[in-house]
Amino acid sequence: MAVSSLLLCLCFGALVKCAAGSDWCYTGCEHTPAHWKDISGTFCGEKRQSPIDIVTSDVKTDQNLHNFTFANFSSENVIKSIKIDKHTVKCILEENEVEVSGGGLDGTYSTIQFHLHWGDTEHHPGSEHTIDKHRYPMEMHIVSLKKGMQDPVNDPEGIAVLGFFINATEDGDMSGPWSNLTSYLKNTAGTVDFNHTISIDDLIGNVDRTKFYRYMGSLTTPNCNEAVVWTVFQEPININKNLIQNFPMKTGISNVFRPTQNTNGRQVFASPATTLPSSHWCYDDHCHFSPSKWQLLPQSYCGGELQSPINIDTRNTLKDNHLKEFTYTKFDEKHAIKYITNTGEAVKCVLKEDLLEVSGGGLGHVYSTLQFHFHWGSRSPDSEGSEHTVDSHRYPMEMHIVNKRKDLSLEDAIKTPNGLAVLGFFIEAKESTKSSDESHHETGPTSKPTSDIDAWKRLTSYLPHIQNISSKANVTEEISIDDLLGDVNRAVFYRYNGSLTTPSCNEAVVWTIFKESIKVDKDMMMLFPTHAGYENVFRPAQALNNRKIFTSASSAPGPIQLFLLLGCLCALSYNLHL
Ligand SMILES: *[C@@H]1O[C@H](CO)[C@@H](O)[C@H](O)[C@H]1NC(C)=O
Ligand SMILES: *[C@@H]1O[C@H](CO)[C@@H](O)[C@H](O)[C@H]1NC(C)=O
Ligand SMILES: *[C@@H]1O[C@H](CO)[C@@H](O)[C@H](O)[C@H]1NC(C)=O
Ligand SMILES: *[C@@H]1O[C@H](CO)[C@@H](O)[C@H](O)[C@H]1NC(C)=O
Ligand SMILES: *[C@@H]1O[C@H](CO)[C@@H](O)[C@H](O)[C@H]1NC(C)=O
Ligand SMILES: *[C@@H]1O[C@H](CO)[C@@H](O)[C@H](O)[C@H]1NC(C)=O
Ligand SMILES: *[C@@H]1O[C@H](CO)[C@@H](O)[C@H](O)[C@H]1NC(C)=O
Ligand SMILES: *[C@@H]1O[C@H](CO)[C@@H](O)[C@H](O)[C@H]1NC(C)=O
Ligand SMILES: [Zn+2]
Ligand SMILES: [Zn+2]
Repeated sequence: MAVSSLLLCLCFGALVKCAAGSDWCYTGCEHTPAHWKDISGTFCGEKRQSPIDIVTSDVKTDQNLHNFTFANFSSENVIKSIKIDKHTVKCILEENEVEVSGGGLDGTYSTIQFHLHWGDTEHHPGSEHTIDKHRYPMEMHIVSLKKGMQDPVNDPEGIAVLGFFINATEDGDMSGPWSNLTSYLKNTAGTVDFNHTISIDDLIGNVDRTKFYRYMGSLTTPNCNEAVVWTVFQEPININKNLIQNFPMKTGISNVFRPTQNTNGRQVFASPATTLPSSHWCYDDHCHFSPSKWQLLPQSYCGGELQSPINIDTRNTLKDNHLKEFTYTKFDEKHAIKYITNTGEAVKCVLKEDLLEVSGGGLGHVYSTLQFHFHWGSRSPDSEGSEHTVDSHRYPMEMHIVNKRKDLSLEDAIKTPNGLAVLGFFIEAKESTKSSDESHHETGPTSKPTSDIDAWKRLTSYLPHIQNISSKANVTEEISIDDLLGDVNRAVFYRYNGSLTTPSCNEAVVWTIFKESIKVDKDMMMLFPTHAGYENVFRPAQALNNRKIFTSASSAPGPIQLFLLLGCLCALSYNLHL
């Protein structure tokens, strides 16, 4: 087949002479991987290259990555010959017998060969893809071409490669199918007939093929055509380390893998069965990492000393005169929300970039507002689901407005003690009299906080559209943050240093918890658990340790003065806001 010989030349062709792409190597020639891009006619310097490092915390689950269908993978007579060249060992399959479909692939792909990448005899690993920078000893690539396509190497989805990691075990089977395969390894290039009866399934063994990553990439050898739909399986094939050693030892070829390439913003997806760190944790005990075990997650700070949320003991707060009013930029912008999404742990409204800002309030920096999201309790009308508690009282809901220091990248901000500023607002029902704040409101005739009911109606009207986890909806309705907050007195608040309240719990947050709550209808609050499909999404209170909780200057300490003072403050801030 013309296409497959073209591919042999482009992809793995050391022995096939062709115009470009034949003069390359991994080490010891002019065109090492860093210079593949200089070989004329290659795509090796483009933006969609492979392999890549798969950062599992950035991977998104894709419900459309269904199970694969593998045709004739169990057939014991499909490996026709073994070809050894200076770059790899390749098993060539009988034509038109082995096929791959499903797995989110568009159509059926005809499998033509599989080959291997490895390291060296010094136990340096040699997989091409890496998982969170971990490189496995070897990687197997099963290469398939889209059926009925004239020129698959020049089609963005013309080639499907299935990548399997190979892991070294101390005492694995030395006589199985992999020993059959390695019995063909030798130090001379050429093609020999394969006359053992082993199937591709025999080689893959018991790897769970429902767990895999997916991204769009390229061939990993010149000409690096950007034609590959990549599937990288999560579980490795485990084989005896001595069999792995046979690859560099018997062939004399070592370190035949390309370094990982920049993703350039490409998203890696995972099939629903794949175990991801982000899907590992949860708020109840129906998963491995319940809140008390969050500190065991990789790269987690959840066991630190400055964790959030906390219970605010109002008797032990300190007045701080620096905690003056905030300055809010564009909080009245009615088209600031880009989209609303169901993250699987919360409902989050992502804002347009570089539009909203917060400063003042004793923050000492200008912060860009990134998003706001909600924490809630159960579907029951009297449920409590705020994260922070005040004198052990938990409110029905809590809204978090997340801001990042404007002078820092997000990556740096989460590593900096005041890199993030979160504004926390309690939400409770209109008719509620439970709130300790309620008495204050009655003191000032104009100060009863009310939010814009229509804005909340418009916001919650999106919830039915984001019932699926990870789904999002563009927000086109007019909703400003000011509308949602209503006339809550934003001059009276608590301040402490803490953390993100979800993994990785980075201790990078200056917290502001406003004393007054936003008033929203109970029915609207219940739409959150009802549509999102999960309840009680709040972290238990964390130890205060030696931290201090400050209160804004305007809040008076004594109960008697409080009563009078708040009345006039509320009136004052009411004037300022309107
Ligand atoms: C996918 O395969 C797994 C195991 O092979 C099975 O448990 C699951 O039900 C399958 N899913 C679908 C949607 O067929
Ligand atoms: C599987 O292989 C057999 C021959 O061994 C062949 O007749 C059959 O068409 C193959 N199936 C597919 C789906 O290609
Ligand atoms: C790889 O093999 C080692 C034993 O050599 C084992 O401890 C480890 O769990 C294996 N890794 C995976 C992902 O199976
Ligand atoms: C290869 O496979 C056969 C069965 O097909 C088995 O008897 C033999 O032990 C295997 N190993 C080697 C090294 O050939
Ligand atoms: C495989 O074929 C070669 C000749 O191509 C022969 O020398 C060898 O004995 C055969 N091996 C088996 C296991 O049939
Ligand atoms: C949720 O996902 C299912 C199945 O993937 C799909 O049929 C349905 O339309 C989705 N619903 C929404 C609101 O996106
Ligand atoms: C949402 O907006 C983005 C760009 O702002 C657009 O690409 C996308 O198609 C929109 N989605 C829907 C469902 O309208
Ligand atoms: C937060 O920590 C910084 C030091 O990193 C300190 O200067 C500041 O006073 C602390 N703020 C509060 C509210 O404890
Ligand atoms: Zn390969
Ligand atoms: Zn939050």
